[in-house]
Amino acid sequence: MIQDHEIEAAAAALRAGQLVGMPTETVYGLAVDATNPLAVARVFEAKQRPRFNPLISHVASLSAAQEQGAFSPLANRLAEVFWPGPLTLVVPKLAAASACDLACAGLPTIALRIPAHPVAQDLLTAFGRPIAAPSANVSGRPSPTTAQHVRAEFGPEIALILDGGPCQIGLESSVVSVLGDRATLLRLGGLDREIIERIAGVLGHPSHNAHAAPSSPGMLLRHYAPRAMVMLDQTKAVDNSVLIGFGDVEGDNGFNLSPSGDLREAAAQLFAMLRAADALGPANIGVAPIPNIGLGEAINDRLLRAVRR
Ligand code: TXA
Ligand code: MG
Repeated sequence: MIQDHEIEAAAAALRAGQLVGMPTETVYGLAVDATNPLAVARVFEAKQRPRFNPLISHVASLSAAQEQGAFSPLANRLAEVFWPGPLTLVVPKLAAASACDLACAGLPTIALRIPAHPVAQDLLTAFGRPIAAPSANVSGRPSPTTAQHVRAEFGPEIALILDGGPCQIGLESSVVSVLGDRATLLRLGGLDREIIERIAGVLGHPSHNAHAAPSSPGMLLRHYAPRAMVMLDQTKAVDNSVLIGFGDVEGDNGFNLSPSGDLREAAAQLFAMLRAADALGPANIGVAPIPNIGLGEAINDRLLRAVRR
């Protein structure tokens, strides 16, 4: 049994920007404050993913979900029928959403879920903000279904792990994007396709894999792309360009991803700074060299996509 004081300690850790192991009915999640980009950067760092995959924001109620995303009548219907439960809905992100850009990997959409596990619900209620939580495994390893798995995977990085017992479902949530009255299955998981189709009608397939060409419904996975051309490994601003610095390379207009050369801080700033630099309307955005280690790998991956687009 989880005690109230453990929930309170976990909520306090989240408020402090730390990582918490959170049980859900599907798999254990590596939970952080979805509104804190530095905390979200910590999750990507701990998972050692070479890129920023968008994370699911967990919420306590449908009204909390509707503060983050735009729910069409079909999205509302799916939420009413299947939440709380093993279904994640990807919907357009609201401009007023409190979940940060990094949690959504710069996408114009947000993935939302109300988990059914009572410990997750208690934590969400105590915390009072959306919780971003990928499965609590290092990239490439199987998803954890017990607190022991999480402990074996992550030691010192995690402030505490709430032990909610073994996960009942043991498979990740099914992920369905809903744009208007069109529903697309992005990931098959704990909720059967047929059961979802009873409400949503026949589910479409994403015609492209993640991050692929910008045609429908792959559009969903299109990241924010600056209007300006992005140039990597720059140390000086050239004509009609804005330089985003890092470490000793000072940028323009105070744009520096991290003056102290901290990759976690750089990851947390990345999307907001690209937008801010782009808003100045330059032909080019130069970015200082970012070391390709740790989170730097994901930062460079994201920047390379902006170069190639
Ligand atoms: O059961 C689960 O879903 C667990 C528990 C902890 O909730 N979480 C989980 O998270 O599996 P993760 O990060 O391992 O997988 C999230 C999935 C990824 O396939 C990601 O690409 C997709 O959701 N996703 C998240 N946001 C998205 C978005 N805006 N558009 C498309 N796909 C998105
Ligand atoms: Mg996963």
